[in-house]
Amino acid sequence: MIQRSVIIGCGAYLPERIVTNAELAKQVETTDEWIRQRTGIEQRHIAADGEKTSDLALAASKNAISAAGISVSDIDMIVLATATPDETFPSSATRVQAELGMTRGAAFDVQAVCTGFVYALNVADNFIRVGQAKTVLVIGAETFSRILDWSDRTTCVLFGDGAGAVVLQAQDSEGTNRDRGILSNHIHSDGRHHNLLYVDGGPSSTKTVGHLRMVGREVFRHAVANMASVLVEALEFNGLSPADLDWLVPHQANRRILDSTAQKLRLDMEKIVVTVQRHANTSAASIPLALAEAVGDGRIQPGNVVALEAMGGGFTWGSSIIRW
Ligand code: ACO
Repeated sequence: MIQRSVIIGCGAYLPERIVTNAELAKQVETTDEWIRQRTGIEQRHIAADGEKTSDLALAASKNAISAAGISVSDIDMIVLATATPDETFPSSATRVQAELGMTRGAAFDVQAVCTGFVYALNVADNFIRVGQAKTVLVIGAETFSRILDWSDRTTCVLFGDGAGAVVLQAQDSEGTNRDRGILSNHIHSDGRHHNLLYVDGGPSSTKTVGHLRMVGREVFRHAVANMASVLVEALEFNGLSPADLDWLVPHQANRRILDSTAQKLRLDMEKIVVTVQRHANTSAASIPLALAEAVGDGRIQPGNVVALEAMGGGFTWGSSIIRW
């Protein structure tokens, strides 16, 4: 009998304020048309003054916990993926833990930028597989609006704020649960690409928070290659072909990256969950936000084979294959 980690509930939270491309065009030299054509983005949500990453994470977590039908006392670990924590320390996960009223277990952050949620899910799955945790809250939450240079049109139009969460639980893979759960995780990084995508600040370098800096065209090139290769790796590992996938829930950076991935793998675009037009790039939050949407509206059904994949700063990239 195999024990697998099963996602038993998803939740999402987006800040109330929506900023359209037209509004951004009043701030920097850009147009709605340029942003739509190059990225597919139409709008993004931006956190209110004083609204922190942990606030977004908490709201998404409450929704995930309620969808899972568990109580906070069932949770024995929180893994929060973020590159925009409330503070340098302690982890934003411990803040969520306190706000949930959870007084036992462990809570910590994972940092892999846009691949953060895939990394966090991998970490949580490993804790479950070795028997050190049974029920883990896995969160992706970001307030990238705080680290954007709002005078740089090449980056500020691309990102948004938000949070998504899932409850991951150990379940015996037998009876009706047969083969359900996370089937595989693959994570990678290559630190040589630091200068293509980074934040030019931090406590031990400049003592400031800094701003996101990116060589967009180079990142794009690597993203297209890595998003395709990591999916091929995952499918081969599981003895699956692209046609066996019911849903691909990729990190949402740019519509053109998703189109290229679909083309490379000859994957039907209808099978890809796309939210980038409404959320923009929410980094570690983009996959759990998209998952919560596709589960909530009934697209993802029990038994479906679902692939998650992401690529981000570091570079980092990775995938998970899940039988829902
Ligand atoms: N509005 C109008 N013009 C702009 C804007 C803007 N917001 N931004 C750049 N431009 C101009 C540039 O200045 C340039 O002008 P020039 O030719 O006179 O020099 C022109 O548009 C073309 O710029 P490029 O950077 O070559 O445009 P490109 O087609 O590569 O698109 C983009 C840029 C959208 C950033 C693209 O490279 C991209 O999406 N890269 C991936 C970046 C990404 O997604 N990063 C997120 C983190 S990593 C991840 O999540 C996968």
